Amino acid sequence: MAITIKGTGSSLPKKVLTNFDLEKMVDTSDAWIRERTGMSERHIAENETVASLATEAAKKALADAGKDAADVDMIIVATCTGEVMVPSTACKVQAEIGADNAVAFDINSACSGFLFALQTAGAYIASGMHKNALVIGAEVLSSIINWEDRSTCVLFGDGAGAVFVENCEEEGRGILSMAQGSSGSKGGVLYFRKREADPDKEDEYEGKDAFVHMNGAEVYKFAVRQVPECIEKALADAGVKAADVDLFVLHQANIRIIEAISKRLGAGMEHFPVNIDKTGNTSSASIPLLLDELNRSGRIKAGDTVVLSGFGGGLTYGACVMKW
Ligand code: COA
Repeated sequence: MAITIKGTGSSLPKKVLTNFDLEKMVDTSDAWIRERTGMSERHIAENETVASLATEAAKKALADAGKDAADVDMIIVATCTGEVMVPSTACKVQAEIGADNAVAFDINSACSGFLFALQTAGAYIASGMHKNALVIGAEVLSSIINWEDRSTCVLFGDGAGAVFVENCEEEGRGILSMAQGSSGSKGGVLYFRKREADPDKEDEYEGKDAFVHMNGAEVYKFAVRQVPECIEKALADAGVKAADVDLFVLHQANIRIIEAISKRLGAGMEHFPVNIDKTGNTSSASIPLLLDELNRSGRIKAGDTVVLSGFGGGLTYGACVMKW
């Protein structure tokens, strides 16, 4: 049994932080950031929280799907920046929207989080245990950013995106294949640590800088090798050629990573929509944010063959092929 996306929604904080604003905060320049990352601005939460952004995105996805909160069987939120560890952000969303019949839980898989949450919903629905799910990616990365570290603070933004998915009886429709993987031994390449982490506590990262830590070159190498391989596996499982894909909706980490993946797959950049210039890297929110933009603008159409792929901390990666 396949699952299909019936509705999308998203939410961005009001405040916009431009590259020019960042020039006043750290030793950087608009030209450096645009050239190396493709980013011009990002949204930063002031009054918004992960839960409030996730809730707004969820409400819009439900409205787009024409569903009531009472219809929802399952809520999965992918996040690594929830305000509190317990209760989960998904339980907060459940309470806010009044989805009293749903089971709700979070997944933390950094920038692959949305993909893994979608795949989890797919597996539940395929098993027959649930019929539908709200799958949400939501982050307030600004809460863990070291605003004095120019090598990371320019890269990230806040936001949330959501999809409503349900089982699909129609042959050849919905999600056709899923692939995923993790390389836990490379976890030190990219990690997030909360500001309030106990500085006296010994752990494997002792002595390294707090907040977001990233070896940019290693992450880049991992992404441009592992992601195309994962996408190719998902394409082969679905019996689809890269040349027949209408849209590759990738995690928006860096324009150069997306360009390198496009080259490796032999598919032109016109098939790789981007919104990274306006949002920065929003981790687990980036794919559903972009999907919502494509859905609402009509760029993604019924019958399109679409590949989704996420990758990031863990290290983790995943892809799925779907017929919209
Ligand atoms: N502004 C200006 N200069 C900066 C800067 C900034 N914001 N950040 C770093 N620099 C400097 C560095 O200090 C370095 O200076 P040096 O040569 O004097 O030491 C120089 O720019 C080049 O740094 P380097 O790290 O080699 O740049 P790069 O071309 O590799 O680009 C990234 C850096 C982070 C953009 C790149 O490695 C990347 O995209 N990595 C993947 C990151 C990512 O996507 N992470 C999330 C995955 S989910």
